[in-house]
Amino acid sequence: MPVSPRLYVDSADVTRVGELLEGGLVAGVTTNPTILERSGRRVGEIAELYDQWVAQGASEVFFQTWGADASELLANADRILALGDRVVVKVPATREGFVATRSLVAGGATVLVTAVYSPAQALACASYGVRYVAPYLGRLRDSGRDGVALIADMQAVCAGSETNVIAASLRSPDDIVELRQVGVPYFTAHPDVILGLLSDETSDQAAAEFEAAIGRIS
Ligand code: G3P
Repeated sequence: MPVSPRLYVDSADVTRVGELLEGGLVAGVTTNPTILERSGRRVGEIAELYDQWVAQGASEVFFQTWGADASELLANADRILALGDRVVVKVPATREGFVATRSLVAGGATVLVTAVYSPAQALACASYGVRYVAPYLGRLRDSGRDGVALIADMQAVCAGSETNVIAASLRSPDDIVELRQVGVPYFTAHPDVILGLLSDETSDQAAAEFEAAIGRIS
């Protein structure tokens, strides 16, 4: 079944996230501990961020669980899930993460498995019935791998299952276009990349010409 592309913002910069949400330009917000730290946020502020982004129109808000083993990952996932019904809990694609994932999915949670680097891991996610898998295009390329080909394979192994690919670590609008061409439905990126997707200098010039013309004939 054809799926329309969907954009998320991968940031905890409340000003920039707020602009994108209130402008209706993204469906939701994805974060991870690194993103929170970069924005100077603490774990104790997660609930406040969730409430703010939901009030600004986010249909989904993603926070990542943490912990050294499956039971810690599950305990922190419970804190995240208690935030509300628009929360998606992210779990890293590790052995312990998969143990936690299985239990979270069985309990009815909406789960994203993150830092997925191989089609085999994506296949495991699909077999567990997770809602989303997040491969990192930029980091795959940084490690010398063919990121688009690998993500296309992940998309292929998830096709027809309940699991959807949200591509992350996207560093330019062209990354998004390239992945969409191999069937990837969902994308999360830095605000600059999202805004870059929407604009072209020549469109701005054309719009300025239209405005000038309307001024002359009004
Ligand atoms: O969500 C993944 C993202 O945080 C990684 O992006 O550009 O640091 O590889 P990047």
